[in-house]
Amino acid sequence: MGRLENKIAVLTGTSTGIGAATAKVMASEGAHILAVDITDKVYDVVNEINEAGYKASGYIVDVSDATAVEQFADTIKETYGEIDILFNNAGIDNAAGRIHEYPVEVFDSILNVDLKGTFLMTKFTLPLMMENGGSIINTASFSGKAADLNRSGYNAAKGGVINFTRSTAIEYGRENIRANAIAPGTIETPLVDKLTGKKEDEAGKTFRENQKWMTPLGRLGTPEEVGKLVAFLASDDSSFITGEAITIDGGVMAYTWPGEMLSNDDWKNTTK
Ligand SMILES: NC(=O)c1ccc[n+]([C@@H]2O[C@H](COP(=O)([O-])OP(=O)(O)OC[C@H]3O[C@@H](n4cnc5c(N)ncnc54)[C@H](O)[C@@H]3O)[C@@H](O)[C@H]2O)c1
Repeated sequence: MGRLENKIAVLTGTSTGIGAATAKVMASEGAHILAVDITDKVYDVVNEINEAGYKASGYIVDVSDATAVEQFADTIKETYGEIDILFNNAGIDNAAGRIHEYPVEVFDSILNVDLKGTFLMTKFTLPLMMENGGSIINTASFSGKAADLNRSGYNAAKGGVINFTRSTAIEYGRENIRANAIAPGTIETPLVDKLTGKKEDEAGKTFRENQKWMTPLGRLGTPEEVGKLVAFLASDDSSFITGEAITIDGGVMAYTWPGEMLSNDDWKNTTK
């Protein structure tokens, strides 16, 4: 029997990457997955889960659209009554320049999906947890704990997600609703392809090599590794953890400064 047996779990950003992998991990632990995405690839993930003998249903929802999210929550209430788990994972990123050059519309679009989308899904589905409790997991990033060049919109959004998680944790703890954020480092997904280039391309290859030697574990993370952390936070195994932002980055954030690694070729040449 899985840790999430008979739990109803809403997951956003489930067509690809971390969301798709987490849906599969959580389904294999017994959860009924309500998979949300803006693209219809979400139905491929749902079909794969059902064909494997687990339970999933798919929904096309833009998490940044308040009306669409409210309608989605109404539909879920009519169909299932309550939910047990919410994984706010839908996100976009863009390295759009230094702040004085950063386009306002890019800043708006990232904040709308990554931060406002998290707020909207939480706001409209929380009432479906208030009777019997639940667990909310929000995908932040190590880019919400420290900053990157040219990515102020993403840094602001993910920092916001971490503190919004704390707001949720303190406001709903008495209803036995826990809220935690995860802060992944570089995880091999289509988002990294979009941001830096695919692993076959020169730019993508260089980015990955640099990420690898900067990472104490010497490699990028996999979406499945993140999915297992989310499943733990969704389950009763984490029953006294709330308001946290757990880094899952192979050790990158454990450094003070990368200078000593830059001049150490032995270090650079021992990646995986
Ligand atoms: N891959 C990484 O290295 C990394 C690191 C830290 C944090 N993250 C975060 O993890 C989350 C998942 O990213 P990923 O790497 O799996 O990327 P991804 O691009 O594979 O997945 C993102 C998903 O979100 C969906 N989405 C985008 N806008 C949406 C909207 N408005 N409404 C509903 N769905 C929408 C996309 O269609 C896609 O399926 C994101 O929040 C991202 O910021 C990723």
